[in-house]
Amino acid sequence: MQGTSEAFGLKVFCFPHFMTDILIMQAAACWRRNVPERYSVNREESEKELALQQEYIRIMRERVEERIAKTRSVPTYHIETFGCQMNAKDSEKLAGILEEIGYVHTETEEQADLVLYNTCTVRENANQKVYGRLGQLNSIRKHEHTDMKIILCGCMMQEPDEIENVRTKYTFVNAVFGTHNIFRLAQLLYRMETEKNPVIDVWEGTDKIVEDLPSVRKYAFKSGVNIMYGCNNFCSYCIVPYVRGRERSREPIDILREIERLAKDGVKEVMLLGQNVNSYGKTLDVPVSFSTLLKGVAEIDGIERIRFMTSHPKDLSDELIETMRDSSKICNHFHLPLQSGSDRILKVMNRHYTKAQYLNIVEKLREAVPDISITTDIIVGFPGETEEDFLETLDVVRRVRFDSAFTFIYSPRTGTPAAAMEDQVPEDVVKERFERLLKLVQSIGQEMSGRDVGKVLPVLVEEVNRQDGSMVSGRLTNNTLVHFKGEEKLIGSIVNVRLAESKGFYYIGERV
Ligand code: 5AD
Ligand code: SF4
Repeated sequence: MQGTSEAFGLKVFCFPHFMTDILIMQAAACWRRNVPERYSVNREESEKELALQQEYIRIMRERVEERIAKTRSVPTYHIETFGCQMNAKDSEKLAGILEEIGYVHTETEEQADLVLYNTCTVRENANQKVYGRLGQLNSIRKHEHTDMKIILCGCMMQEPDEIENVRTKYTFVNAVFGTHNIFRLAQLLYRMETEKNPVIDVWEGTDKIVEDLPSVRKYAFKSGVNIMYGCNNFCSYCIVPYVRGRERSREPIDILREIERLAKDGVKEVMLLGQNVNSYGKTLDVPVSFSTLLKGVAEIDGIERIRFMTSHPKDLSDELIETMRDSSKICNHFHLPLQSGSDRILKVMNRHYTKAQYLNIVEKLREAVPDISITTDIIVGFPGETEEDFLETLDVVRRVRFDSAFTFIYSPRTGTPAAAMEDQVPEDVVKERFERLLKLVQSIGQEMSGRDVGKVLPVLVEEVNRQDGSMVSGRLTNNTLVHFKGEEKLIGSIVNVRLAESKGFYYIGERV
């Protein structure tokens, strides 16, 4: 941690424990800036909120226990998560609250007493998917499970038009809430019992970060960890800043404590989550850089792999690249959304970097971590995109040679600047470009993914292979999938595997 201390312009003794280090750094930085020592936006309010929600959980648990005593049946829940890892993490928190109340998880939504759809709205087809599923669910509710309760939450519910749509056309929905108040689920369930349905509780924003509510983890050996919420970037096509609100970082101490607890619980891999992790900590009253946080996480015993998502190229610091180079725990995978290779389009997208700057970052990453795998997001058909602009995107793909890329057709989102732009690209042109991009991305990805064939590399085993029960599947640190002969008991352990054969986007291996 010596280097970290120096980053704050301070000389501190080399304390062995990262938490002490960070507390000392914060205290010293506070002293220099003349701000209170432990300060966070509305921390007091957040603690009050936690106490209130714990009380609602207690009340609802009593009611569930009464129901079980009367009917001899335990209420079941099912959460369907649409969209990104942020939503997946939110769903784990919602599940945690429900299980604390006494609900039991069921895989099939048809059988659930309570169904929650945690929605996404990043592209129009995400919304359509939710409405399609909702129609089917209503038919089950009407014919087979009349007392089923249905709740909608997440990003799509932050949009006033969608709330109105649900209120008028999907009148069977019992409650709606958004992204800012998921910690209020117990209170919402309480209100559903006492108020006329639907209960609609959507907040425009929040400055509360409620710590220490229960959470259920999907995997025993790996976990996502929120390090920040919201986004301040306002890329002109993107709805996220409108539905997830302004950027708020969690205090490093809270994050590190959570990861310490996870490690004690057997977690080996953490994925630090934020819309733009590279700007982590900038809005804290005592700023802390993302690199400093990473160094703290890397010191936690038991944590063997650290991943993070997502990075914005404009905020990627040399300090972060050095930290990746120097830490064996930080995985050699970097997801770096490109969006477009055209400087003109990048400008209208409000991305704040050029093609040359992006390529320069890639070069620095590859120099520091030669075996790094780089993945990206690309949008095709942004308003005004010409063939020339598109060729610039293909050029970046050829030069960088991404291991894989998520490719998206531009989807206009109401309320974003790009949706109001006049020169929308015709559908047939976009489709044709999309196909060309996909072909290139796939052929390069296939070559890149096979580059480690013959090597022996560590694999974190994640599950029994879904097609062949005699095999297990896991990931290299660069995130590539490996399947090899092995037993279920290997799940959660890191084993050395010879990558015998490359199958394009995955390997068939042999344990050594
Ligand atoms: N249309 C298409 N793709 C989008 N993304 C975000 N907004 C849109 C949109 N309106 C993509 C970006 C982002 C990823 C999560 O989703 O590529 O990085
Ligand atoms: Fe959307 Fe841009 Fe924020 Fe990513 S950085 S969530 S693309 S606004």
